[in-house]
Amino acid sequence: MNRVFKSLVAVSALLLTWGCQTKKEDNNAWFYRALDKSVAQVKLAANQYQPGANPRSIEPDGSVRIAGIKDWTCGFFPGTVWYAYEISKDKELATKAEKLTEALEPIKNFTHTHDLGFMLYCSFGNGYRLTKNEKYKEVILKGCESLSSRFNPNVGAIRSWDFGPWQYPVIVDNMMNLEMLMWASNNGGDKKFRDICVSHANKTINNHFREDYSSYHVVSYDTITGKMISQGTYQGYADESAWSRGQGWGLYGYTYMYSQTKDPKYLEQAKHIAKFIMSHPRTPKDKVPYWDYDAPNIPDAPRDASAAGVIASALLDLSQLVEDGQNYFDYAEDMLKSLSTEQYLAEPGTNALFVLKHSVGALPKSSEIDVPLNYADYYYLDAMVKYAKLKNMPLKK
Ligand code: GLY
Repeated sequence: MNRVFKSLVAVSALLLTWGCQTKKEDNNAWFYRALDKSVAQVKLAANQYQPGANPRSIEPDGSVRIAGIKDWTCGFFPGTVWYAYEISKDKELATKAEKLTEALEPIKNFTHTHDLGFMLYCSFGNGYRLTKNEKYKEVILKGCESLSSRFNPNVGAIRSWDFGPWQYPVIVDNMMNLEMLMWASNNGGDKKFRDICVSHANKTINNHFREDYSSYHVVSYDTITGKMISQGTYQGYADESAWSRGQGWGLYGYTYMYSQTKDPKYLEQAKHIAKFIMSHPRTPKDKVPYWDYDAPNIPDAPRDASAAGVIASALLDLSQLVEDGQNYFDYAEDMLKSLSTEQYLAEPGTNALFVLKHSVGALPKSSEIDVPLNYADYYYLDAMVKYAKLKNMPLKK
């Protein structure tokens, strides 16, 4: 009797374990299906494009908008190919990623733009992370020298653009440069890079955010006194509106700055921005934001999958920096699940070989409205890879 009972217990335990495993696999099926589709699509694209001429978006006539090495988005496609390699371990993708990345080397000397973080850290940064190629590190360190030449100590921030009517424009997107500068400062680069990051982050907290933690896109400063001159927008709906991707850039930037400095004011800032996003009454059910939280034609306004990707990536990081981070993790998971549905995720061979549909570049300029964007693909895969690591799931089944 005792033996029969023991066997029954053993069989039940076995069934229970099997049942749990099957359920776990089912729960993760969306994730692996999405990665399979993404990698297949990136492989097709990697075979299609030549180094130095990367796909950016789709033009109104259906042709692909190409990003040459002066385009602020040129680092995203190489970075996406690095992620596809990391996910699939397909060596051919690594070879492609190397070529796409190395074509961008001249950017390390650019001093006319602030976008070096996007251009170099997404390409060479991921390349270095995955290969430890010392040449890639040298490119990043040189790029940081060039980028830091745009820091004006009177203002205490890095200048964004050299065009336009502003005396010293600083855009919220500029917070995304701090990851590369901090990394460089910790990896053999000039220690001043860290001071620049802290100064830039503090100046941006003081002048880019409203009381509700929505942000201005563009703030201009006086180059002598450092005083703020104007607050407004370039890519958002209105000067006083909350441009969705800007919320994403800010959330990512302050989450990162807290992870590096442990300064509680950066954590507070990140939590407040997250709250704005997560509790906004005009956030749609699937959590992929409209391109601007104040867009006039909500619910018919276009969505911005690129904003969703950046926000998901930042929330995953934030979830690890606080004791009660499960809500951030769950929100990011919901966003990634939405982006992984057929509504947003393209079937391989369609969507001009971009991974995601439905992003907005610069609606007020009538540019890139409800189209794929290379940075939507990049931040989606960035977040998917982070998600797997946090869940302790293999990237490949
Ligand atoms: N950095 C420009 C953009 O976010 O569209």
